[in-house]
Amino acid sequence: MIRELFLESPAATRALGRRLGAALRPGDFVALIGDLGAGKTLFVKAVAEGAGAEAASSPSFALLNRYGGPVPLQHLDLYRISNPAELFSLGFDDLLEEPAATLCEWADRARGALPADRLEVAFEHAGPRSRKVRLHATGARAEKLLAAATSV
Ligand SMILES: Nc1ncnc2c1ncn2[C@@H]1O[C@H](COP(=O)(O)OP(=O)(O)OP(=O)(O)O)[C@@H](O)[C@H]1O
Ligand SMILES: [Mg+2]
Repeated sequence: MIRELFLESPAATRALGRRLGAALRPGDFVALIGDLGAGKTLFVKAVAEGAGAEAASSPSFALLNRYGGPVPLQHLDLYRISNPAELFSLGFDDLLEEPAATLCEWADRARGALPADRLEVAFEHAGPRSRKVRLHATGARAEKLLAAATSV
């Protein structure tokens, strides 16, 4: 299933993220796509809130941040990944086996290595304070996440 929404303000992006966070379970994978400043990290912070984790820091330099809580989260930022060998040395495949939900910024840099069942969340600038978001569920578990995040 694919759904497109307009997020008219950072608050709207946060609300969507919190709803998704509340539905996450270990093993879930959320692929975040979008240009610099599109809202990926802001969204991850709200997801962490919704999941009951401590607020995620912006991983400007770290490739991976882990968060404790009722559902462990791992937040990856693949901005600096330029080839599959780097992904391998990061231990990407092992991370997917962790009993945690994964949020991956710049997931398009890992095309081919992503789990088959994933929720893709693609942000586009639509104005200074507005973003278009496209949610694409590629499997049964992702469909549930999409429904939980977008049913108000
Ligand atoms: N509707 C909106 N949704 C999300 N962020 C918004 C929105 N409107 C404005 N913003 C602003 O856009 C910026 C998004 O920054 P953020 O760090 O989340 O982007 P990012 O996609 O993670 O970028 P990067 O690729 O550099 O990591 C924030 O300063 C936020 O306040
Ligand atoms: Mg970011």
